[in-house]
Amino acid sequence: MAEETNNGMKNNYTPVLQLQGSKLRGARVTQLKNHFVIKYKEEPEFFVRVPGRVNLIGEHVDYCGYSVLPMAIQYDIMLAVKPVSVPKLQLTNTDSSHSDFQCDVNSLSIEVKKGVSPPWHSYFLCGLKGVLEVLPQDSVGMLVAVTGNVPLSAGLSSSSALVSAAALAAAHANMLKMTKLEIASLSASSERYIGTQGGGMDQAIAFLGTKGCAKHIQFNPLLSEDVKLPDGAVFVIAHSLAVLNKAKTSDFNCRVAECHLAAQIMAKKRGLSWEKVSSLADLQSAVSASLVEMVDLVKELLHEEPYSKEEICGELEVSEGFLDQLSLSSNTTHISHFKLHQRALHVYQEANRVRAFQEVCQNETVSSLALMKLGELMRESHESLKNLYECSHPNLDKLVYLGEGRALGSRLTGAGWGGCIVALTTKDTVSDYINTLKEKFYKGNPAAVGKDLDSLVFATEPNTGAEIYKLEQ
Ligand code: GLA
Repeated sequence: MAEETNNGMKNNYTPVLQLQGSKLRGARVTQLKNHFVIKYKEEPEFFVRVPGRVNLIGEHVDYCGYSVLPMAIQYDIMLAVKPVSVPKLQLTNTDSSHSDFQCDVNSLSIEVKKGVSPPWHSYFLCGLKGVLEVLPQDSVGMLVAVTGNVPLSAGLSSSSALVSAAALAAAHANMLKMTKLEIASLSASSERYIGTQGGGMDQAIAFLGTKGCAKHIQFNPLLSEDVKLPDGAVFVIAHSLAVLNKAKTSDFNCRVAECHLAAQIMAKKRGLSWEKVSSLADLQSAVSASLVEMVDLVKELLHEEPYSKEEICGELEVSEGFLDQLSLSSNTTHISHFKLHQRALHVYQEANRVRAFQEVCQNETVSSLALMKLGELMRESHESLKNLYECSHPNLDKLVYLGEGRALGSRLTGAGWGGCIVALTTKDTVSDYINTLKEKFYKGNPAAVGKDLDSLVFATEPNTGAEIYKLEQ
């Protein structure tokens, strides 16, 4: 029989996932635990750790249905949690610039205001809401303390780590049994409550990351396989000192819409039932063509000049109202012009680069050759993101340019418009590369004043995904 504990929880539960971290020690954990105890005058029952990620290749393709190749990094979000029978959520953050928050778990409201970065707790509420939607019973309440060292708005997925951590904590507190794939998909869809229509890459790697391996992640259905990187490869992350909160502007959703519209117009031109084509990958399956053939199809069917909204409605033979409903989101209905040719071209070529990257990792036995080929693919990816997808930033381009001849290749990582680059170096060249960026980009840069340069440019290696811990006694 289930025993009732003093907070009304049953003791014989099966935890969500079998994620039991073995050891959790260190100054950050102690600080988090102390913060929790001071705030709530109680001890936390468990801890959740969810890492940020760096995407090595495959940018802006996940929401088009194509695979990506990220790895989890050493920086993470950690939660200290105690489930309570009163259905109330209380949140506190060790970073005092993030104010405490509380609400009833049965009446969550996620604030989304045009042109404003959402408050930090909204990301937590997204993950919690996702779990509440699938929970067969009423939810318990939670006391939660949060700490994080993933750089914010840097393209390293700090928001998705918080959404995913909240979902994991809520599932565990409510004894909900889910697989890693299920909770990763749930976290991906619940993050859309914030207003951005991301794919599932960030949440998938947050749960599926493993030490020592990058991951090739496919969608619909979600699948992942290990990618062993060539011997000697060292990836470096460098912050451009420009930040972008993708929920604050419509840039991200505009790209999602452009890909969607490109797929629909091409489908219509090929005589398919275009309303059913929701992504560029859908279109590829519908026409049974290779990625290279899809590139030719884009060139044949879509013109380079931007499409006005009127022209799109004319092509699809629909009213503006219908288009808004079917293909656009609340923050993209106001956009008057869409670049369909360029965005679709990027997506099909980038999807092909992911395939090539994985193939090199799998089949190229001479590691120096493998490294050169991967570097080349990364350089091509950046060029395409800059010129066709137009989601780079002058600082990102400068970092990429400064690395020429020192890194084998580098590219913006994550959504772009600011944030970080990822560069491929080797054990022999990594120090020279990092020192060059420190000298030529960061030193004397007003935006870097007072910042620890080692936190702005650092080497990283594949890390473990999400875990749940009990504190070591
Ligand atoms: C953001 C989104 C991801 C992905 C990247 C771009 O991180 O959350 O799903 O689309 O941008 O590759």
